Amino acid sequence: MPALMNAGISDEARSFIRSLFAGDCSGHDYWHSIRVYENTARICDTEPNADRSAVTLAALLHDADDRKLGGDWVNMPNAVGFLRSHEVPEDRISFIVHIISQVSFKGKDTETPDTIEGQVLQDADRLDAIGAIGIARAFAYGGSRGRPIYDPNNIPRGDMSEAEYFSGTPDSIAHFHEKLLLLKDMMNTAEGKRIAERRHSFMKAFLAEFDSEWCGND
Ligand code: ADP
Ligand code: NI
Repeated sequence: MPALMNAGISDEARSFIRSLFAGDCSGHDYWHSIRVYENTARICDTEPNADRSAVTLAALLHDADDRKLGGDWVNMPNAVGFLRSHEVPEDRISFIVHIISQVSFKGKDTETPDTIEGQVLQDADRLDAIGAIGIARAFAYGGSRGRPIYDPNNIPRGDMSEAEYFSGTPDSIAHFHEKLLLLKDMMNTAEGKRIAERRHSFMKAFLAEFDSEWCGND
């Protein structure tokens, strides 16, 4: 295997994303990518066929060109530029870019990654979108985009295409119904499914409590 993960590249990738995401308050800060990295390492422990060095490096770089953050998600100049500057072979760069390109949620147009590495990364990113951390991130993201916590007049949408998903501006509670509550049943790996169960239950309990307080039933 090519020396993709020479001792320093993971540390260099951390420094790179630390400066790239400096000042982010949308839930896509440096620590999101670090948590996704840790999640990939955890899932790789149970997926011996996954190329751990590729998937963990992809985890560190997965949001470097994210469209929600104004990035060029087609050409991925940040991720590609970083990898080229560290002399990663072009075929490995293509592989890492391919993994990253399949990670995102796009409503009913969401892709199931065609590699185990892509499936691990997608699960790892999704785990950070649910549970207690996912709740915190959803409201941070909504606030950063000027969206209300909850608007009872707004009916969550279902069965959205990629274009519909990205054109909507829902309140943050609606985002739970439009995406976050769907993720548990979309996990790819056994370990991802296992961890998602508990995080999903916590989100359901949170939403029930939110509703009870909102309606004065508590
Ligand atoms: P993905 O690539 O699947 O979108 P990311 O890691 O880039 O995954 O970030 C997704 C997170 O951004 C969501 O889990 C949520 O916290 C936040 N987010 C995205 N859209 C919204 C929204 N409309 N309202 C609230 N949070 C959102
Ligand atoms: Ni992410």
